[in-house]
Amino acid sequence: MTAKTAATRVQQLRSEIEAHNRRYYDEAAPTISDREYDELYRELADLEKQFPELVTPDSPTQRVGGSPLKEFAQIAHRLPMLSLDNTYSEEEVAEFYRRLEKLLPNQQIAVVVEPKVDGVAVSLLYERGELRYAATRGDGSVGDDITQNVRTIRALPLRLRGTPPELLEVRGEVYMLKRGFAKLNAERAEAGLPQFANPRNATAGSLKQLDPSITATRPLGVIFYGTGIVEGVDLQKHSELFALLKRLGLPATERWWSASSVDEILHAIHELDTMRRDLAYETDGAVVKVDSFAQREQLGFTSKSPRWAIAYKYAAERVETKLHDIVIQVGRTGTLTPVAALEPVFVSGSTVSRATLHNEEEIERKDIRIGDTVIVEKAGEVIPAVVGVRADLRSGNEKRFRMPKKCPACGTEVVKDEGQVAVRCINAQCPAQVRRRIEHFASRGAMDIEGFGEALVTQLVERQLVRDVADIYALTADKLGELERTGEKSVANLLIAIERSKSRPLWRLIFGLGILHVGVTASRALAANFRDLDALMNASIDELQKIPDVGEVVGRSIRQFFDEPANRQVIERLRAAGLQLQSDDYGKRDAASGAIVGTSWVITGTLSEPRDAIAELITARGGKVTGSVSKKTNYVLAGNDAGSKLEKAKQLGVRVISEDEFRAML
Ligand code: IVH
Repeated sequence: MTAKTAATRVQQLRSEIEAHNRRYYDEAAPTISDREYDELYRELADLEKQFPELVTPDSPTQRVGGSPLKEFAQIAHRLPMLSLDNTYSEEEVAEFYRRLEKLLPNQQIAVVVEPKVDGVAVSLLYERGELRYAATRGDGSVGDDITQNVRTIRALPLRLRGTPPELLEVRGEVYMLKRGFAKLNAERAEAGLPQFANPRNATAGSLKQLDPSITATRPLGVIFYGTGIVEGVDLQKHSELFALLKRLGLPATERWWSASSVDEILHAIHELDTMRRDLAYETDGAVVKVDSFAQREQLGFTSKSPRWAIAYKYAAERVETKLHDIVIQVGRTGTLTPVAALEPVFVSGSTVSRATLHNEEEIERKDIRIGDTVIVEKAGEVIPAVVGVRADLRSGNEKRFRMPKKCPACGTEVVKDEGQVAVRCINAQCPAQVRRRIEHFASRGAMDIEGFGEALVTQLVERQLVRDVADIYALTADKLGELERTGEKSVANLLIAIERSKSRPLWRLIFGLGILHVGVTASRALAANFRDLDALMNASIDELQKIPDVGEVVGRSIRQFFDEPANRQVIERLRAAGLQLQSDDYGKRDAASGAIVGTSWVITGTLSEPRDAIAELITARGGKVTGSVSKKTNYVLAGNDAGSKLEKAKQLGVRVISEDEFRAML
């Protein structure tokens, strides 16, 4: 492929990928499968690798640009980020509008009613169309610089479309997709990690990550609903903002209502309530805002919030239903979780028949008994939770629940670790655990073996074709052919997928092993600190505990796992099967030090090594390489025959260094 055709294809791929990002995250209406998306993305990444001069900072491949931070820098908001007065009462909404009428006598007062997105408030600055920074609200005057993390939100344009204004500060809410949240929590439960209580907490947790590559794995989206500083565009009314945002490619609410009376406002609030469950993100209310900016100015602010807006919050929907039974679910790490088996009931948009009860203590605290009429609420609209019981409706036949002394799947006596609430089955051969361990190993977040879903794994475990993860690599076409619903084609595909998984990076294997308390973050940290699996297996607790993101509990758990002879045998069989046990990520974090960490580079001209190789030297030391020179560039590394980029660097006063100087820096 010539550089010219590559450039055209790269452009095409970028706009296709951005459009799919919008459809997936913004409109919740994807038109291609995840796999097809991954293929487009891979094609783009490959082309950019082949033609590094085509890489630009706003390419979808450059969303995870930087390396982990030590702490967040601070950003002072040029206009304060205030919050709103909240109310649960329709009467107070009516009073709000009547107050407006008093404060603006003889004026027509139009308000806009829009969804109150339940996420984390952010402020983003675009300068001449390019994302400059993203900040949290913080205390309203100063927030955290979370640019690296916000860049990973795929529906967010890194460069605005059309003709952007000179300066545009947009304010909005980062949220987690409802369907992505449930999946994330399921994965965390499997990894023995604490659950997020609701999508908002999960969003906040994701934005607080110092390592943007973790944020990038979280299903985040963003919606904008306001502005801070704006230069170069004249807005008279809030309702004009929606069209402007759309034109610039910035996600905004699709539904909003215009109202000019109390009745119209309440009508809009009710209508929003009936449709908000279908939105891809969570909403906890409606925001009512005066439309005209001139009127807003007349109304002004109280000490903490504007007089021109109010947030009406919907009460969480609660329903009553019968608790038929409490069943036990056995997780991958052997944790026994009591689950409520409920008379199916419709709440907040879907039918619920199961709800987690967390643990025995929780059941006792709420005094939940089998046969009770229980009160179910969708906490944060998504996870059903039993929030209480109607003790007044008891017949006397209700039964208290006791955690079983034996694992319901294998009959082994359960144990309770000191200081922990969870009860566990410690039989590593327990069929329920084996099934879940295999599912976890093959899952997308771990070894990513396509086709290894629940149904296949259940059959493999039942027929004892797979007893541990190493058995996966002993599967043959004959063995797979015995299973139900596996034709020749799918067997061939499964074998290809298994073969491919052998070369996954070490952190995926570590995560896939399913060591108690070892999630993705710890797995990545381990792969960065040990050159291979043997070094990790032989590490002392002391060594392990020193690693950030590992600590005492996790360190002990890792040691325990590798001290178990059965686990060591599995590893030996994985080695014999040809899995990759070396860490490509070794040293990546530790190397993030010295003069290069946190700096931004552009490489141009002919150098002694391919640009890719040089770029790797920079990124391995915590620097960032981009494709075009801007004021934010710290260094331009110029080889022979450097052209326009060198010129641009000189114009902007960016420091230019030679390869010799660069080598000296290393
Ligand atoms: S307008 C001066 N509009 O809810 C403050 N806020 O409880 C202007 N929020 O601080 C905020 N959706 O973090 C506005 N459509 C929306 C919103 C929204 C969610 C958040 C925001 C705000 C908080 C107020």
